[in-house]
Amino acid sequence: MKVSIVAAVADNGIIGINNSLPWHLPEDLAFFKQTTLGCPVLMGRKTYESINRPLPGRLNVVLSGNASWKPGPAKDGTPRNIITYPAQLPEGSTTQIATATNLPDALKWLSGFEQVFLIGGSNLYEQALAQDLVDELILTEIHKSFEGDASFPQWNRQQFKEVNRIANTATPERAWGFDFVKYAKVSN
Ligand SMILES: NC(=O)c1ccc[n+]([C@@H]2O[C@H](COP(=O)([O-])OP(=O)(O)OC[C@H]3O[C@@H](n4cnc5c(N)ncnc54)[C@H](OP(=O)(O)O)[C@@H]3O)[C@@H](O)[C@H]2O)c1
Repeated sequence: MKVSIVAAVADNGIIGINNSLPWHLPEDLAFFKQTTLGCPVLMGRKTYESINRPLPGRLNVVLSGNASWKPGPAKDGTPRNIITYPAQLPEGSTTQIATATNLPDALKWLSGFEQVFLIGGSNLYEQALAQDLVDELILTEIHKSFEGDASFPQWNRQQFKEVNRIANTATPERAWGFDFVKYAKVSN
């Protein structure tokens, strides 16, 4: 199973503020969707709560140390169905919420999938990089500094090689540019 981090990171490392994104960047949301659609996405409880709904067309696995954590109901008040580790996961790209209480269990649970995307936040990125679990980083590098309270962790750039970069320049409406960049782990 390939483990890929997906994150949008400002020049000063900021990724979030008040449990939301510091910028409005529809191009990045579209890129995120195109990148992750059909694959499981693994996230921390706070990131799930910032989105507050399962991302469609993806298995949404949420980590919480609290075994009784439950996602809030749908807009119409219907309780959400959740699958709890170690119950059988659905195959394919069903919109579904699943929960696990630790990272090794979550990754073991997902090991039958070809690729899993770690979609945040700061806490989850940090653990995955520190534990050397990451094969690839797909970063939206935003060429501006933002105020915030969540940052992308320091990571060992020597362990990864830039393999692709798509530059998006500033526009009259948006004074800053951004790049979609892929870094692949250098094999030992
Ligand atoms: N720019 C981006 O690309 C991007 C992407 C995602 C998120 N964000 C931003 O990042 C911020 C949230 O990041 P965050 O670091 O505060 O929170 P987070 O990583 O989303 O969630 C942290 C929570 O996840 C659970 N968790 C994490 N690792 C776990 C483990 N190994 N075992 C069990 N539970 C685990 C814990 O929940 P419990 O407390 O319930 O135990 C922990 O408190 C927000 O501002 C969000 O908008 C930005």
